[in-house]
Amino acid sequence: MAKLKINGKLVDVNVGGSTPLLWVLREQLGLTGTKYSCGIGLCGSCTVHIDGEAVRSCVVEVSALKESQEIVTIEGLSAEDDHPVQQAWAELDVPQCGYCQPGMIMTAAALLAKNSAPSDADIDATMTNICRCGTFNRVRRGSHLAVEIGKSGRSS
Ligand code: FES
Ligand code: FES
Repeated sequence: MAKLKINGKLVDVNVGGSTPLLWVLREQLGLTGTKYSCGIGLCGSCTVHIDGEAVRSCVVEVSALKESQEIVTIEGLSAEDDHPVQQAWAELDVPQCGYCQPGMIMTAAALLAKNSAPSDADIDATMTNICRCGTFNRVRRGSHLAVEIGKSGRSS
């Protein structure tokens, strides 16, 4: 049993300590926006925020988490899917199949929270998520557009 704070709510989860956070999110809590792909921390499709850091949830065991830590999934990133990154992604049609995109969005959102004017090199260095559809150019453009949307305070 563990108590975790997910998207602002404390939840009790009845799992073994070695269970990856990803499976708690998807199987216990039904937060299926966070995707499973490689399962070994390489692809980034399972990215969530823990205390504002982009973290690959498939390699975080529940026993490593404290209830004081703020875990945010794609479902909790914004109240109305209107985070600047989400707006930019929609405006530029960044996703293709879409599978990797929740992880991309969470990684971009964490980057922009720390770096308000990332260069292409900053984006490439941080956005190491894998996209089989090859959306990397649009991910980069979307990240720049999200900066502009954030500055303008635009909402969808
Ligand atoms: S499923 Fe977690 S990094 Fe690939
Ligand atoms: S949009 Fe298809 S895997 Fe990235």
